[in-house]
Amino acid sequence: MTQDASTSAAKKLFIKTYGCQMNVYDSQRMAEAMGAEGYVLTEDQAEADMVLLNTCHIREKAAEKLYSDLGRLKPLKAARPDLKIGVAGCVAQAEGEEIVRRMPLVDLVVGPQTYHRLPAMLRGEAPAILTDFPAEDKFDHLPERRATRRAPAAFLTVQEGCDKFCAFCVVPYTRGAEVSRPVDRILREARDLVARGVREITLLGQNVNGWHGSGEDGREWGFGRLIRAIAETPGLDRIRYTTSHPNDMAADLIEAHRDIPALMPYLHLPVQSGSDRILKAMNRKHTADQYLRLIDRIRDARPDIMLTSDFIVGFPGETDEDHAATLRLVETVGFGTAFSFKYSPRPGTPAFERPEVEGAVADRRLQELQALLNRQQKAAQEGMVGRTVGVLFEKAGRLPGQMVGKSDYLHSVFVDAPEAVPGDLAQVRIVESAANSLRGELLV
Ligand code: SAH
Ligand code: SF4
Ligand code: F3S
Repeated sequence: MTQDASTSAAKKLFIKTYGCQMNVYDSQRMAEAMGAEGYVLTEDQAEADMVLLNTCHIREKAAEKLYSDLGRLKPLKAARPDLKIGVAGCVAQAEGEEIVRRMPLVDLVVGPQTYHRLPAMLRGEAPAILTDFPAEDKFDHLPERRATRRAPAAFLTVQEGCDKFCAFCVVPYTRGAEVSRPVDRILREARDLVARGVREITLLGQNVNGWHGSGEDGREWGFGRLIRAIAETPGLDRIRYTTSHPNDMAADLIEAHRDIPALMPYLHLPVQSGSDRILKAMNRKHTADQYLRLIDRIRDARPDIMLTSDFIVGFPGETDEDHAATLRLVETVGFGTAFSFKYSPRPGTPAFERPEVEGAVADRRLQELQALLNRQQKAAQEGMVGRTVGVLFEKAGRLPGQMVGKSDYLHSVFVDAPEAVPGDLAQVRIVESAANSLRGELLV
């Protein structure tokens, strides 16, 4: 076994990642697991010895992408029959051997909770299709984190799975039941990342704020307490987290936003709809008013917080009045940015059989909502002009001497900073708002 990336004999692994940040994190961990088997990453699919597609099942279009990508791999596999093709992630979990039946060129199918066994599968020491929910914790069987790239910002999964069963959503089926990783493992991974040059960590979970565990003091900790502990990691400047559920926004987490300078003033808090009738049909277990009161409490704790959200339009049974209620909620809150999707019926979910809203109606509602959200995003960006914010530089910008990084509020900011290197955290005055980014000047 070799870990030496410079040997020309090293086999090459190409990974394509679809879906959410947790898939991005999982792809890194799979790359590390395969690294221990002598594989190095390549950006060029044509030279790969193994192609791994890490898939997303959230909407029909996302899932269908897998099959069109597999179709495109046929000539490559025909030319090089020893090429290994693996399917990982949430489509792998949901469809299992159906994938191999539809696309016999696939060699391996591995779910999100079994990918620590990928090397054994490749060696033929484990079944080629593995989509169970094993009792053991995959993280205990993965190699230590090695920063594959020296990026100053990194993800860290602290919680996985979901017990909430929103009527439209596949995640409880593809990721399994809610599991929180233990405190000591999380703190160790945070320290390892910082030792490798990471200055910002985004804590990940399908319901990240539902995280709970036994703390180092022997008490039961909630997510706010965990953030306090992570914030003590020497050298760690910034903490973010995603995705949260409104019903798990506990008081100690809201207080963390007030008390912990490293916790960035940014919160992604999906609400899906502004209509109580639809929220109930979605099984979200809160009302629009409860969401609005929660936002008030969060803004009391951290007045400058940037709020973002997810919305689904055209959920079965949604009327024009329900849609108007969503637009009203958006007007009331004022989001920094938001994701909005047309409802996609997913097999196996409770809403799948319900009568659908007419396509053209859902399209119109999506356009209306997106127009409003775009106006809010523009206003939020323009509101940054004249303000001084922290920017963590990530890489060189388009122009000579320019760096680009993320502001405290997660805007991309371009700055003239010829002396700066990735990983520098600078104070920057914002001078201009462009389409999808800001421009700022270094404060000297
Ligand atoms: N755990 C997160 C969301 C995970 S999925 C939460 O509870 O909010 C990310 C987003 O995809 C969801 O917030 C929802 O807006 C959207 N989504 C999920 N299922 C969908 C479906 N069937 N059709 C359209 N959008 C969907
Ligand atoms: Fe899906 Fe709802 Fe769970 Fe989020 S809370 S992952 S939307 S079931
Ligand atoms: Fe997609 Fe699975 Fe993430 S369905 S959004 S990759 S949890």
